[in-house]
Amino acid sequence: MSTSEETLVVVKPDAVRRGLVGDILKRFEAKGFSIVRLRMTTMTKAQAEEFYEVHRGKPFFGDLVAFISSGPVVGAVLSGGDAVACVRRMVGATKSWEAEAGTIRGDFGLGLTDNVIHASDSPDSFRKESSTFFRNAAG
Ligand code: CMP
Repeated sequence: MSTSEETLVVVKPDAVRRGLVGDILKRFEAKGFSIVRLRMTTMTKAQAEEFYEVHRGKPFFGDLVAFISSGPVVGAVLSGGDAVACVRRMVGATKSWEAEAGTIRGDFGLGLTDNVIHASDSPDSFRKESSTFFRNAAG
């Protein structure tokens, strides 16, 4: 029996613009995860820099921050068994063109910066990212 935990997914601006929010979140619900928190927001540049703090200094950091703050995103906290690892498997490889068919990136995208969705890679990342993402949010 897997241990219940929480993770964060953020549907990125490319997927929101393409009207894919429902199709993507539906997969997590169909799998058995519960959406326990949900927020649509447009990140400020400062919030985006904090959210992706671990990537600061990497060559793609500027483009990543510009992209993630370029339009609305939808963040969801998902709760269920082995959520961090299971959700990462459902999301697929970072380079969408390499992601397996059946994964979210494999089925919905072709990009790298614009790779449809972000998912926390550890419980520690979940805590940091969700506190940044939901700061000053109602509810
Ligand atoms: P994400 O899961 O949101 O985590 C960091 C993001 O940086 C990643 O998805 C990609 O969108 C983006 N990125 C851009 N270039 C690279 C790269 N060369 N390696 C890894 N991530 C990259």
